[in-house]
Amino acid sequence: MAKYEICGGTPLSGTVTISGAKNAAVAILPAALLVSGKCRIENVPDISDVRVLLDILSGMGAEIAWEPGNVVLIDCTGVTCTRPDPELVRQMRASYYLMGALLGRFGRAHVALPGGCNFASRPIDQHIKGFLALGAEVEETDDYVDLEPGPEGLKGGRVSLDVVSVGATVNIMLAAVLLPGQTVIENAAKEPHIVDLANFLNTMGASVSGAGTDTVKIRGVQSLRGGSYAIIPDQIEAGTYLAAATATGGNVLVRNVIPKHLECITTKLREMGVRIINYDDAVRVQSTGRLRCTTVKTRPYPGFPTDMQAQICVCMSLAAGISRLTESVYETRFFGYCAELESMGADILISGKTATVTGREKLHGATVHAHDLRAGAALVIAGLAAEGVTTVEDVHYIERGYENIIDKLTSLGAKIRRIEEP
Ligand code: UD1
Repeated sequence: MAKYEICGGTPLSGTVTISGAKNAAVAILPAALLVSGKCRIENVPDISDVRVLLDILSGMGAEIAWEPGNVVLIDCTGVTCTRPDPELVRQMRASYYLMGALLGRFGRAHVALPGGCNFASRPIDQHIKGFLALGAEVEETDDYVDLEPGPEGLKGGRVSLDVVSVGATVNIMLAAVLLPGQTVIENAAKEPHIVDLANFLNTMGASVSGAGTDTVKIRGVQSLRGGSYAIIPDQIEAGTYLAAATATGGNVLVRNVIPKHLECITTKLREMGVRIINYDDAVRVQSTGRLRCTTVKTRPYPGFPTDMQAQICVCMSLAAGISRLTESVYETRFFGYCAELESMGADILISGKTATVTGREKLHGATVHAHDLRAGAALVIAGLAAEGVTTVEDVHYIERGYENIIDKLTSLGAKIRRIEEP
């Protein structure tokens, strides 16, 4: 088990370069199953979720090679397996994209239910609803999902999602790309990584339109061909460094970002009193003194991301006045980190979907546990801002999604080290 030891109190300063988007990578790599030929995928983040996914694909017969500079070459032409290794599948959440990709490629799949960050109950009924609309027969047990063609075979269909779901939108897109006819997904998620997946698929010869709006249309094509594609920068990693600079009173240039994707985050940070300067592919955040309280409600994109809830909560914990933070996507998310933050001196009162955060002048170091990826990132931010030494345990959660976090923070002046425990 590894942990981070942080000696807090230093304002972050300098330049940090953001990696490729985790949530795009974990959709695009399984999408390579649909491609006949070799894909060259650039800007792939070297994080444990991606490593596990590549191990799963490799175990299924994909030929995979890393090239220097975060490039993955992947050729799934020879894959015949429709039953990915359940042990590996259970190690991550986004392994559920194998269901859509295998259904699309082979018309059948036998995939274990995913594991990953369990900060809430994470149903997949909308994914299943989509597969059924495409003509699949679905059998779900406590451990597995079995998909095969129904009596009339698989073909394009119309699905109206009951909740805006990133995962269901991606899975239905993957399943539909090679099916005859047109598929329409209504009430689709609009996150940047949905658009990135559509751009990847279209680069390889698919016909996907409307990604980034609430109606995605997929006209089935006979095959996809290999090609090159670069993954977008990670919105949430960028937001995390912006929040870390904000909480520590720093001055940081966050490079290799799409500022438009960050507006939902930078708008709130600006309200809290920091100066935000947007460039073509970078955003600078500069402290201007004590933070001000604010109100945030998480929503699907283009709203404030639930994946930034914990990080902004740390900023609120240090702001003058009383902030309100309402979670509307995953209601139980507060329980992953608020008690840990309180042990560092934060004052947070949770009532239903809303946390009332009374800002303190300072937080103090403590030993805290990461319970999931973003909660863990927030505790690192809290440790960087706090007085004294903070130890964050169970950092394997953090390393699911943050490439080189220790090196990146150290280059910004943070005093943080990773300790591997036997
Ligand atoms: C994705 C992100 C995750 C982020 C979340 C919300 C990836 C790999 N993960 O997760 O980091 O926190 O979006 O932005 O991209 N729901 C249902 N039934 C379903 C599916 C979802 O009720 O079949 C509900 C969920 O419980 C949740 C909401 O819909 O309340 C949104 O979930 P969804 O967008 O599907 O999240 P994920 O795709 O799992």
